[in-house]
Amino acid sequence: MPKHTIVTMPGDGIGNQVLPQALRVLEAAGFEADYVHADIGWECWRKEGNALPERTVELLGKHKVGLFGAITSKPKKEAEAELDPALKGRGYQYFSPIVSMRQIFNLDVCMRPCLSFPGNPLNFIRKSPKGGFEEPRVDVVVFRQNTEGLYAGVEWTNPPEKVVEALRSHSKFKPFEKVPGDELAISVRIITRPAARRICEAAFRHAAKFGYKSVTICEKPNVLRETSGMMEEVAKEVQRQYPSVQLWSTNIDAQTMWLTKNPEDYGVIVASNLFGDVISDAFAGLVGGLGFAASGNIGGDVAVFEPTHGSAPKYAELDPPIVNPIAMILSAAMMLDHLGESAKADHIRSAIAGVVEEGKVRTYDMMRLPGGAKAISQGAASTTEMTDAILTKLGVAVEAYAISGRS
Ligand code: NAI
Ligand code: MG
Repeated sequence: MPKHTIVTMPGDGIGNQVLPQALRVLEAAGFEADYVHADIGWECWRKEGNALPERTVELLGKHKVGLFGAITSKPKKEAEAELDPALKGRGYQYFSPIVSMRQIFNLDVCMRPCLSFPGNPLNFIRKSPKGGFEEPRVDVVVFRQNTEGLYAGVEWTNPPEKVVEALRSHSKFKPFEKVPGDELAISVRIITRPAARRICEAAFRHAAKFGYKSVTICEKPNVLRETSGMMEEVAKEVQRQYPSVQLWSTNIDAQTMWLTKNPEDYGVIVASNLFGDVISDAFAGLVGGLGFAASGNIGGDVAVFEPTHGSAPKYAELDPPIVNPIAMILSAAMMLDHLGESAKADHIRSAIAGVVEEGKVRTYDMMRLPGGAKAISQGAASTTEMTDAILTKLGVAVEAYAISGRS
C-alpha cells in the first residue's frame, strides 16, 4: 500500500487542466500515493453556498497533504447573483476557500520559491555596464506569513461605535474623528509574536539548510513601528540561533526597486502577509511569471501546495489546453520535498530545467504569444505536450503516464 494519501483539489478553470498533468509527472518520478479527489471552488459555492465544503475540510484534516489547482472567485454581488435560487436569501456569504483553508488549518507559512531556469526566454535581463545584456541568476525563496497581517480579515466600512470609540483613544486618530461612518473604511493589521516567530524560523531554517547566505526581512518598520517593528525584532532574535546566516533588513518599497537592480544578491526573504504577497509576485515576475510560480501553504499539521496563478477562465475551455503546467508541477515537487522525497523532487526539477534549457517545447506564455486557440498553430506547445516533454526528460515512456483512464 502506498505510504501517502494526497487530497487533490483541482478546483475551477485551468486548475482542472494542470493538476492532472502534475499527477502524471509524480507517477512517472516514481512517487507512490493514493489520491483522493475533493471538491472546492465556484461550483461548490453556486450549488451548496460554500466554496470549501465540510467534506473537503474533513479529507484534508484526515490525510494532511493537499494538492490544489486554482479557484474562481467573484465580487460579492456576482457571487450572490450566481447562487442557486433555492439558496438565495438564506444568509449564505461567499468566502475565499483558500483563505478559509489557511485559517482552518493554520497554514501560516507560505513558501514561494522563485528560481530562474537557464534558457527561459521570460527570465529577467538587464543592460550590462560593459555593453550588451546580462541575465542574473535568481534564486530567491519568499517566506510569507499567511494568516495574519492586513489579510486577517478584521475590517469595517462604517465601523461600530465601540470600535470608533477605541480608536479615539489614539492621538493619531484625531484627523479622522469627524469622518462620517459610511465614509470610513478600516482594515486592521495584526501581527502576533508566535506567528512572526514561526515564519522567521521557517525562513532561517531553510536558509541554513540550503546554504543561503542571508535572510532579508522585508517590512517597513520606520513607519509601521508596531507591526513591522515586531516582525523585525523577532527576526533579529531568531537570527541569533543561525550565526551562519546574515540578517538583512529592507523596506518593502525599496526592495521592489532593488529586486530589478540586483536580484542575484537576495536569497531568502521573509515578510508579513501583504508584503510577502507583493514581493513574491515581484520576484516571480523575474523568473517567468505565473506559468512558473509555485507555492506551499504549510501548517504544523496540514500542508497544501498550489501554483500561484488563478483559474484563468478565458482559457479553461480551450481544447487542447494551452496553459503552462510548470507552476503546478513545481508545486507538486515542493510537496515531495515536504514529504521527505526530495530526490524525486530534484529529479522533476532537473527534467523541467532540461526542457526549458533545450527550448524546443514552449507554451504560449514562454513565447510571449497572445493566449488563445491560435497559439497552438503559431507554434506553442499545448499543456499536455509540455508535460510530455518533461516526462521524456524524466526518462519514461510518455504513453505509460497518459491521463486517460485516470479517475
Ligand atoms: P489568473 O492567474 O487566473 O490569470 C491571469 C492571466 O495569467 C491569465 O489570463 C493568463 O494569461 C495568465 N496565466 C495564468 N496562469 C497561467 C498558466 N499556468 N500558464 C500560462 N499563463 C497563465 O488571474 P485572474 O485572471 O486575475 O483571475 C482569474 C480567476 O482566478 C479569478 O476568479 C480570480 O479570483 C481567481 N484567482 C484564483 C487564485 C487561486 O486559486 N490561487 C489566484 C489568483 C486568482
Ligand atoms: Mg498574490
